[in-house]
Amino acid sequence: MPIVTSKEMMKKAYDGGYAVGAFNVNNMEIIQGITQAAKETNSPLILQVSAGARKYASHTYLMKLIEAAVIETDLPICLHLDHGDSFELCKSCIDGGFTSVMIDGSHLSFEENIKLTKRVVEYAHDNGVVVEGELGRLAGVEDDVKVSDEDAFYTRPDEVEEFVTRTGVDSLAIAIGTSHGAYKFKPGQKPKLRFDILEEVGRRLPNFPIVLHGASSVVPEYVKMINENGGKMPDAIGIPEDMLRQAAKMAVCKINIDSDLRLAMTATIRKYLAEHPEHFDPRQYLRPARENIVELVKHKIINVLGCEGKA
Ligand code: G3H
Ligand code: 13P
Ligand code: ZN
Repeated sequence: MPIVTSKEMMKKAYDGGYAVGAFNVNNMEIIQGITQAAKETNSPLILQVSAGARKYASHTYLMKLIEAAVIETDLPICLHLDHGDSFELCKSCIDGGFTSVMIDGSHLSFEENIKLTKRVVEYAHDNGVVVEGELGRLAGVEDDVKVSDEDAFYTRPDEVEEFVTRTGVDSLAIAIGTSHGAYKFKPGQKPKLRFDILEEVGRRLPNFPIVLHGASSVVPEYVKMINENGGKMPDAIGIPEDMLRQAAKMAVCKINIDSDLRLAMTATIRKYLAEHPEHFDPRQYLRPARENIVELVKHKIINVLGCEGKA
């Protein structure tokens, strides 16, 4: 099975009332952990690479690792650029074998966002690649850029039809109260998502896949494990799983998860090294880290995304 676009998997997800997981990848163990979980649960999968990940591991290494995962699993896997910030970056990923790109013009004016997104869509579609656009702006940290709560804003439903029609995007990321990173809500603050916005967007864009970024639940056990083993994370609060499940039953067909993978990996390695201070072979601590990524992703697939058995 070759690397596929997300077109078919998103359509099935929309019709089936579930979402496909889009997990960020940076190295071999993360790719192996995620793809093993998808294999064991027979699930469709989107592996996404940020500009930072591409700089860290290099395009070629990530490409070859993901090609290996496709051979090993024989699953429909889509390879997606996460938060592309320029036409040139999107073009480079398209030319280099990605099957999906995000052009994130959410920091631009409405007209500038449309102009940039349309340019990427034209090049991508000519090359059989699909495009995700974004309207609205999430708070949090992505690629070293921090968006404060004040600079974040919800998606305006009255803009979505014009944006989708004029750009030709295949999916749309919207801002309904999720945010990037481990600190999504302030201590004492009750997590809240604007389901009314999601509902209205869904009504205005029938049969159209919506994407939710910043969707880690910030698994408390892993934050605790980090802090019990020498870490110093302040109170971290994520998106409750039942809210994500609800969004997946609505128009949300792709749910982005990165921070939970980072927490699972770091927590496991911290615990392992605290319990085995004499060990220094990376395979000894990376093996349990990879195993916990398998468990985390299986949990997401079965209990949050609802895409088990849908490959
Ligand atoms: O939304 C951002 C993702 O978590 C990727 O993070 O840019 O640090 O790789 P990164
Ligand atoms: P989290 O930081 O909540 O995992 O979000 C990841 C994301 O949106 C990647 O695009
Ligand atoms: Zn994101």
